[in-house]
Amino acid sequence: MPRREAPEPGGRLRAGAVLDVRVERILPGGVGLAHAEGQTVFVGLAAPGDLARVSVESVRGRLVFASIAEVLEPSPARVEPPCPYFGRCGGCDFQQLSYEAQLAAKAEIIRDCLRRMARVEPPDEIRVEPSPEIWRYRSRARWQHDARRRLLGYYERGSHRVCDVADCPVAAPPVNERLLRLRELLVEGRLPEVAEFEAVAGDEGVALDPSVEPGDEREQVRRIGGETYRFDAGCFFQINHALLAPLVAEGLRGTEEGGDTALDLYSGVGLFALPLARRFRRVVAVEGNPAATAYARRNLSDATLPNARVETSAVGDWLARHAGELGRADFVLLDPPRAGAEPEAVRGLIGLKPTHISYVSCDPATLARDLRALLDAGYRLDSLRAFDMFPQTHHVETVVHLFNS
Ligand SMILES: C[S@@+](CC[C@H](N)C(=O)[O-])C[C@H]1O[C@@H](n2cnc3c(N)ncnc32)[C@H](O)[C@@H]1O
Repeated sequence: MPRREAPEPGGRLRAGAVLDVRVERILPGGVGLAHAEGQTVFVGLAAPGDLARVSVESVRGRLVFASIAEVLEPSPARVEPPCPYFGRCGGCDFQQLSYEAQLAAKAEIIRDCLRRMARVEPPDEIRVEPSPEIWRYRSRARWQHDARRRLLGYYERGSHRVCDVADCPVAAPPVNERLLRLRELLVEGRLPEVAEFEAVAGDEGVALDPSVEPGDEREQVRRIGGETYRFDAGCFFQINHALLAPLVAEGLRGTEEGGDTALDLYSGVGLFALPLARRFRRVVAVEGNPAATAYARRNLSDATLPNARVETSAVGDWLARHAGELGRADFVLLDPPRAGAEPEAVRGLIGLKPTHISYVSCDPATLARDLRALLDAGYRLDSLRAFDMFPQTHHVETVVHLFNS
C-alpha cells in the first residue's frame, strides 16, 4: 500500500509531505507522472515504473512537484547514473534511464505533444535516431563562474547557484579539457572575474568566449556534408557533431530537384542555407543574431554562393515587412529556438504559402503548438523523424515535413 503523510485537510498535498507513488510515464519536460490524493504529481529524475518515496517540494493548484527521496522498487529502465554531479547539476536529467529507455521516453514525449497540443494522431512508430556517442558528445558548453566562492561549472538544478564541476561526462573531450584548464587557472587565482564562459569545439580545436590566455582561439570551423562553416562561441551551432549530417539531410529531404526560391528561417551561421543555395536559384536566410549573420555571409561567400542573401532580423518582423516582395517560395526551412516560432512568424509563414515546409525543432511542445496553426491553415503533415541530439537529457530534435494541400 502506498504510504502517505501530511496531506492537507481535504486531501490536498502540501510542500514537505512525503508519500509513495508509482511513476506512470515520462512527460514532456522530462518529469515522471504519478497520481496521489486525486492530484497529479510530477516527479523529477524518475524512471517509468519506479515505485518511489517522494518528497513534495511545491504545489501549484492541483499540480504537485516532488523529488525522489528513495526508490522503493526500481523500474527495469533504471540504471545507476555515472556522473557524480547527477541530481545536483542542472545539466542532465535522464542519466537514471538506460539509453533504450531514454529513446523510448523521447518518442513518447513527441507522441504526447502531438496528441495533446497539435491534436493530431501521431505516426504508429516514432523512431528516434540514436546518437553514435551517448557520452562525451557535447561540442558546446556554457560554464558559470562564481569568482567569490571559486566555483566553476553549471547551474545547480532549479537554482542559480554554481555546481562546481571538475569533469563533465557529456562534454566532448576537447571541451572537457578546456574546462580542466579553466579550473587550473581558477585554482591559481588567474581566471578573469567574468560570470560565464562559453566554449565551442570545431574540427580544429575549441573557441572560448571570453578568451582567457594568449593563443585561445576566437573562432572554429566544421566541415559537414561537403560544406565548411565558420562560427564562434557567441553564435549558435548544433552540439552533436556525429548526427549533424543526417539532420541536415533530413531537413532538406525532398528538395533534391531544387527550385526557384527557398527560405532558411532562424538560419544561424547558415547550416541549411549553404546546401540550399546549391539547389535553389534564390535563397534568403533570416537570423536575429548579427554575429551569426556575419558568419553566414562569410560562409556563403567562401563557398562562392552569391545566390543566397542573409538578413539580420527577427523572423516575424522580417516576414511581416518583406514576405510580399518575395512573390512565392517553393520551400521554407525553419529551425527556431526552444520557444518555437513567434506568432508573427507563424502568421507570416502561412501568408507566404510555401508549397513545402520543413520544421526542425528542439522542443516538441512548441513544435506541436506551431504545427496546429499550420495544419489549421491547410498544411498536411507528411513525415516526422526524430534525432537524439542530446543524450542523457530529455531534449530531442524533431524534423517534420508539411505540404500545402
Ligand atoms: C536552433 S538555432 C538554429 C540555427 C541554425 N539553423 C543551425 O542549425 O545552426 C535558432 C537560431 O535562431 C536565432 N533566433 C532566435 N530567435 C530568433 C528570432 N525571433 N528571429 C530570428 N532569429 C532568431 C538564434 O540566434 C539561433 O541562431
